[in-house]
Amino acid sequence: MTTDNKDFNAAAATWDEKPERVKLAGEVAEAIIRQVAPNRTMKAADFGCGTGLVSLKLQPLVAFITGIDSSSGMLDILKAKIAEGKLPNIDTRLLDVEKGETLTGEYDLITSSMTLHHMREPEALLRQLNAVLAPGGILAIADLDPDDGLFHEDNTGVHHRGFDRSALRAMFAEAGFSDIRDSTATEIIKSAPDGTKKVFSVFLVSGRNVRS
Ligand SMILES: C[S@@+](CC[C@H](N)C(=O)[O-])C[C@H]1O[C@@H](n2cnc3c(N)ncnc32)[C@H](O)[C@@H]1O
Repeated sequence: MTTDNKDFNAAAATWDEKPERVKLAGEVAEAIIRQVAPNRTMKAADFGCGTGLVSLKLQPLVAFITGIDSSSGMLDILKAKIAEGKLPNIDTRLLDVEKGETLTGEYDLITSSMTLHHMREPEALLRQLNAVLAPGGILAIADLDPDDGLFHEDNTGVHHRGFDRSALRAMFAEAGFSDIRDSTATEIIKSAPDGTKKVFSVFLVSGRNVRS
């Protein structure tokens, strides 16, 4: 764990150049599609959207999707993709929840991939996300199962070494979610310098807002 933040602006320009990152995002999007069935009536948001690797997979399936991120560099890449594709139903919002900036709006679906481990206070984030979900709205979060801090080559900005699924499910319940489900979205095999291979798994935990 670290107390520093990662410089995502510096990482933005080359973010999409790692094939395993693009593959991971695609498999998370497929898991979201399987587990929560996004549809064309839904107003969605992708929290910690980065360059939109997951958001752009969901964009054709929903009424509208907003990519939310604290990095202007990441959002600039996503904005360029939106402009190039002339995509009418997606926009971006620059927002840092850890600087006290609050989410606004009302969403039927909020997704988030590989961002929770960068949050110092995941419980606070779940409560904030719950507050901007419409009654019956769905939150779907993908992140690492416990990884002993070995997934990232550099753990700057990594505040959690993965998450225990049952603890996260309890956190969802505490934040006001019901119908909580989990599945394995994907597995990533990485080779260590000594040639040994390690498998890291990524979960998808989803829950439905029970506020009326
Ligand atoms: C590991 S990246 C994942 C990006 C994207 N979801 C993907 O799968 O490629 C984490 C993202 O969370 C964003 N992020 C980190 N802290 C944040 C915060 N406090 N508020 C909003 N976004 C944040 C970063 O800027 C970065 O784009």
